[in-house]
Order: sequence, then structure tokens, then C-alpha cells
Amino acid sequence: MAVLDQTRPSRSSGRSLLLPVIVSLSVLTGSVSAVNNGLARVPQMGWNSWNAFACNVYESLVLDHAKLIVETGLRDVGYEYLVLDDCWSGGRDEKGFLYPNDKKFPRGMKFLADDLHDKGMLFGMYSSAGAMTCARDEGSLDHETEDAQVWASWGVDYLKYDNCFNQGRFGTPLITFQRFEAMWKAINATGRPMLYSLCNWGEDSTHAWANGISNSWRMSGDIYDYFTRPDDLCSCENAQDPMCIAPGKHCSVLNIINKLAPYADRTKPGSWADLDMLEVGNGGMTDDEYVAHFSLWAALNSPLLMGNDLRTLTAPALSILNNPAVIAISQDPLAKSAIRIKRDVNVKKDEYGVGEAQIWSGKLFGGDQVVIFLNAADEDLEMKASLEEIFIRETGKAPQAQEDWEVHDLWANRMSDAVAQKIIDSPDQSATILSGIDWYNSTLIPYKEGIEKGDKRLLGKRIETLKARTMFVKTVKRHSAQMYRLRSSDRGAKKENLPSDDNHDEL
Ligand SMILES: *[C@@H]1O[C@H](CO)[C@@H](O)[C@H](O)[C@H]1NC(C)=O
Ligand SMILES: *[C@@H]1O[C@H](CO)[C@@H](O)[C@H](O)[C@H]1NC(C)=O
Repeated sequence: MAVLDQTRPSRSSGRSLLLPVIVSLSVLTGSVSAVNNGLARVPQMGWNSWNAFACNVYESLVLDHAKLIVETGLRDVGYEYLVLDDCWSGGRDEKGFLYPNDKKFPRGMKFLADDLHDKGMLFGMYSSAGAMTCARDEGSLDHETEDAQVWASWGVDYLKYDNCFNQGRFGTPLITFQRFEAMWKAINATGRPMLYSLCNWGEDSTHAWANGISNSWRMSGDIYDYFTRPDDLCSCENAQDPMCIAPGKHCSVLNIINKLAPYADRTKPGSWADLDMLEVGNGGMTDDEYVAHFSLWAALNSPLLMGNDLRTLTAPALSILNNPAVIAISQDPLAKSAIRIKRDVNVKKDEYGVGEAQIWSGKLFGGDQVVIFLNAADEDLEMKASLEEIFIRETGKAPQAQEDWEVHDLWANRMSDAVAQKIIDSPDQSATILSGIDWYNSTLIPYKEGIEKGDKRLLGKRIETLKARTMFVKTVKRHSAQMYRLRSSDRGAKKENLPSDDNHDEL
């Protein structure tokens, strides 16, 4: 119930009549009401050590990154969690409690948690629902209670919970559900709210059961820093395929979004489909590809966890990660994932034999809509969707197709390289630089408030008007994406025309 109350904007009084019906159904199905630790009402944002550092983690790395997240202004566009991934542990003591590796973390974990909290940030840690973690440290399987207690005692705010060395305790959704539910319950029993980030790679149909026992759930093998390249280690094209027995790693951006497409609607406030950490800034993709990667992760409501080395942050990486108009799509109070409305695989293939074009569309707060043209073909393409397609409905015709729409380009106001470089070069000046260009500050004005007020900095740049009953047409470069917010030209006057069926798919 809280889910609906908190996230459903009261756009029109007429629709409140629907709520009692919806609420009682959701209680019966248990799906919405089950996730009730109150966290991640919008997708979590932060930084995770794995993609850039793997096992090479230590105290000063964490402290440096916390400092850099604040100094570069990244905390103040929403990146609040710092998540220390695998390889922090020293083992388990005779009383059964985990302790940190004292060479890497001489002052322990509470020290790090305190440092982050002092900076207005939150601290995440990592373990595995197995005998060992993926890097073969002590795992938490059958030690859930003690491990959750020790993290709570250190002031931890987030747990990423992996799936390695699970002792064969997988193979049916129920077995896997119970293994991950044990930690959900153990965390709850500590009384300390900790965001629970479930990481079983989509195995055993995670999308069908995880949204009752986690705040986010990985739905694929690990990402790697390629846009389209297939790899045998990421053997599955489709997570529901019974032959998908090794979700693995080396999954491209395209592979992951194609896996999510059939159940993009399973993601919901408090429990997001996790497309894995970002690769932006790690160097393996072009700038256009990173823009596309970030755009989709935002519109598909994935957690946004930076995965790059912030000590070598480049201007183009910073200006992708700190774009408030795109982050506002991720943090939209309506909290619905975009869905794929078009896919064309009959386009020019690249050197890996891969190529396709896709259009994604999603509902936003206040009747706005996000549209992404994704060109993953090996050629520039003219892409188009009609307003009927963009506002696709369960039944009947979309009334929105009868309206004119203002088109806002969400990348047009991307920070310039010159300004981004200035911030990187003189971090002690960054607050002055950012306020000098009136950059959005989500610590000052949370996204929900900014969006509800229509803060211009969250809307991108208005570029054109799309007339009623027409086609939205764009030329899109090879391996890139364009991302737009559509706003009704006649905002306010036409609210009654908004479809009333968009509550149903909450169930
Ligand atoms: C534990 O679960 C209860 C409901 O089952 C919820 O109200 C509470 O907020 C949870 N506590 C924590 C610390 O997650
Ligand atoms: C954002 O706003 C907060 C709260 O007023 C302030 O402490 C912080 O310095 C601001 N950040 C930047 C980068 O200006």
C-alpha cells in the first residue's frame, strides 16, 4: 500500500476512485506489499568498486572515491551509495563473525561507514549466498544472521548479495528464492534498514519472484565494456530460455537490454531490475555508445552505479554521468520502466554479426513521455514511431496521439568538456563552478520536487513541436541513441484525456 501511496502522483481526482480496488488486489497477490523496508522508492544511485578495480580494493581507494564523488558534484546529482564489492574480507572469527582484511582495511569498516556518513553518503558492502564469495572469500550461506548483524554493527546501509559457490542450491525458483529470502529476513531482523541488492544473474527466473524480497535484482550475467559484442561466457540471449544455464559474464549492453525487454514491466518502486553497474568512463566504448548505455539504464529504471575509476575521470565521462535531465528520467516519481515499442533486426550488421534498431517509450510523471531511439546497427538510420506507437495502450487508441507534443532533447544541455575539465582540475572550486552555471543540485532540490515543479534544468532543451497524429522521425548515428522527453503542448487543459488504465500493470 505504501508503494502506491508514495509513488502514485495524484494527477486527477477522478482516478482516486480506482485506488481502493488496486490496493486490495495488490494485498491479495502480495507482490507490491511485500517489499516494505521503505528503501529504493526510485532506483538507487552510487558507485561500485568492481568494474574498475575488481579485487584491488583498500581503504584509501574507498576514501578517495568518497571524496571525489563529493568534489566532482556527483553526490549532488544523486550518487549517494558507495558500494565496496568483493575482496574486503579477512575471514570468519571463532565466534562466527566476519572481519575485514586488516592489511587492506586497517581501521575497519565502521571507520569507512562513518567517513561516508559524515560526507552525506551511504555505505554498501558485498557478500555471496554461497559458501564462498566469487573471489573465494568467506560466503554468507547459512551464516545470514551473524553476517547481517555484523554489517549492521558497522553502520552498513546496503548489501550486494551474489550467487557464487551456492553449493548446488539452485535449479528451481523456490530453492533460489529461499536462499536469498534468508538474507532479506536476516537484514530485517537487525532493525537497520539496508538496501538489499540481489545478484543471482537472472537465474531461476529472478524476475518472477525477486520483487518481493529485494530492492533490486540482477537479471543477467555481468556486464562488460562492449556495446554489442557477443561472447561465449555470456551464453544466453534470453534469460527465460531453458538452455540459459550459465548467465556468466561478458554481457554487452545490447545483450542485457534484449534480455530485459520481455519483462521490463516487472520492475517497480522498491524493487528494480538491475542491469548491472555502469561501464561509462572505463574506455571500451565510444562516447556515443556510453551515452546510449546511460540513457537506457536511466529509462529502464536500473540502479545507476558508476563503475569507473574516478581518480582518472575524463570530462566526457563526467558530463554523461552528471546529466540531470537524464537522471530525472531514472528518478521520476511515477517510477515506471520504459518498454520497447519497436525492434528491427533487418539492418546492417557489425563485425560481430550484430545489428539492430530499437525504440523505447515510457510514461513519466504528469503525462510526459520518454522516447529513446537506439541505433545498434552498423549504419546511420532514419528511425520513426507514430504517436499511436509511442503512447501504446492495452486497448483502444491512444488519446495522446490527438495532441501536439513539445519535444525536449535530454542530451542537448550536456555539460561542456571545458566546464567538466575545470571541475576535474580544480575540485576545490567545483561548488563555485557548478553554481556559476546553475547546475541542478539534487541535495538541495530532490528530483521528485524538481520534477513536480517542472524545473527547467530537468527538462533538457525544447527543440520542436510534434503535431497530433504524426510520426516522430529522427536520423540516428551508428551505435548511438537519442533521448527525448515529450510534454503535451497543452499541459493542464487536457489532463482528463490521460489514459486511466495505467494503474493496472502495477499488479
Ligand atoms: C522489516 O519488515 C517490516 C515489515 O515486514 C517493515 O515494516 C520494516 O520496516 C522492516 N525493517 C527493516 C529494518 O528493514
Ligand atoms: C548542493 O546543495 C547542498 C545543500 O545546500 C550543498 O551543501 C552543496 O554544497 C551543494 N553542492 C554543490 C556542488 O554546489
